[in-house]
Amino acid sequence: MEFFSKSCSKEEILAKLKEYAAGDADPHSGKLFTIAFEAGLDDLRELTHRALTLFADKNILDFLEFPSAIKMEKGIIDVATSLMHGDEEVVGTYTFGGTESVFLAVKAARDQFILKRGLGVYPEIIMPVTAHPCWDKAAEYMGLLTKRVPVDPDTLTVQPDSISRAITDSTAMIVGSAPNWPFGTIDPIAELAEIAVEKNLWLHTDACVGGFILPFMKKLGEDIPDFDFSLPGVSSISLDPHKYAFSPHGSSVVLFRKSFYKMYSTFSNIRWPGYVIINPAVLSTRSAGPLAAAWAALHYLGESGYLDLTARMIKARNKIVPGLQRLGYRILGRQSSCIVAFSSQEVNVFKLADVMGEKGWWILAQRGIEEMNIPPSIHLTVTPIHDKAAEHMLKDLEDATERVRQMPPSDVEDMIQGMGLIMRTMVPEDMGLETISAMLGRMEKDMETHGPRIMKALGVDKGVPREMAMINEMFNSLPPEIVEPLLTYVAIELYRRGD
Ligand SMILES: Cc1ncc(COP(=O)(O)O)c(C=O)c1O
Repeated sequence: MEFFSKSCSKEEILAKLKEYAAGDADPHSGKLFTIAFEAGLDDLRELTHRALTLFADKNILDFLEFPSAIKMEKGIIDVATSLMHGDEEVVGTYTFGGTESVFLAVKAARDQFILKRGLGVYPEIIMPVTAHPCWDKAAEYMGLLTKRVPVDPDTLTVQPDSISRAITDSTAMIVGSAPNWPFGTIDPIAELAEIAVEKNLWLHTDACVGGFILPFMKKLGEDIPDFDFSLPGVSSISLDPHKYAFSPHGSSVVLFRKSFYKMYSTFSNIRWPGYVIINPAVLSTRSAGPLAAAWAALHYLGESGYLDLTARMIKARNKIVPGLQRLGYRILGRQSSCIVAFSSQEVNVFKLADVMGEKGWWILAQRGIEEMNIPPSIHLTVTPIHDKAAEHMLKDLEDATERVRQMPPSDVEDMIQGMGLIMRTMVPEDMGLETISAMLGRMEKDMETHGPRIMKALGVDKGVPREMAMINEMFNSLPPEIVEPLLTYVAIELYRRGD
């Protein structure tokens, strides 16, 4: 508030923003292997940023006032439809992210289910354990339930039988990923599509990560199974330009096989004296900037540009995978996409992520799921910029591996693991409404009394930690039912303090 109480000069403002930015990772450095999709092309960045500012103040909300939005959206949907082998019946919606696209698909599948079966049951989504949590989020917001089924521990893709077995009369939708985020493996969508046809169910392919790269990988001779509208059972697909189409954040697409499906996901309303609402997406007012930037990226690069970038990503991946194997790491799943995940029985991967962090690399430590034979691992999203960075990263990884090997195991690790074992037996199997409400009631009091001590114990009382090994160990060992509310509390506190 102190900064707000006086009016600041432009110089002061920019200096302050630069000061904030200095604490961030640099997305263009090639040192980020998670949530940064970087082509490494200065001209592309310059163009998309110009497009962003050109349309920054225009509002997608009203296509009468700003008809450019309809034209640009059509341009993006056409590219996405053609990449996904859709026909003239396919329609789509531009959204601000994969999560929003998934929300629209869930809304459509849920409404279709309710229209067919009526109210009376909670509609269910059946999906592999590797599906992105935005599916749980959409279900939570829209009153559905999710069932996560195990994946094959070797291929790390879902077995169609597991999906089949989980289907009940309440199933509204099944989901497969192309590829999933944790391991980059592609679920057998062709077989899921057969199940969907046979049981008359909605199948969504979550191609948020792969939609703009798998088609080019296939063209370059990589072994990519079918996952799109070429399979009759696929009802909807999500794919994100802000991932492997390298456009700025705020850009995703959801495609529906039939025009009518979009009726379920579009919201129109004239029940007030204000403006007419026609919202094809979840958000209403949206800047047209990201839309223009995505349109610009797709049309500037075109098919040949994406093929070149995909070839560079493959080159990077083909350096990284054998490099990891030489260091003794196990690559998880069948290697078929743009994400590489690895684990180790000797090297603590949580400590490895921290040591690499000290060297400026952002590699993502992922919790394991012991009961499903999924070990803790490191995830690397490989992008074209890593073609240049791969050797440097592997060299630092070799050094980091050696350092971690020499670190003595700490007592706290054992303690956390032991605590995890005990707590897992204590968490009730049935997390029904009554149990959740009792837990939350207790938690409200506990957080008030012990909140600051919890922050201190987790080492987050003084801001966002960079050393995460212990915290990751905790995520890995304790049951999600315990960790999730704790995480929520910590995040609320961090945001409240602004550090
Ligand atoms: C497979 C998958 N689906 C959906 C999403 C959600 O996308 P967003 O972060 O754009 O909301 C992600 C994000 O990484 C993802 O990997």
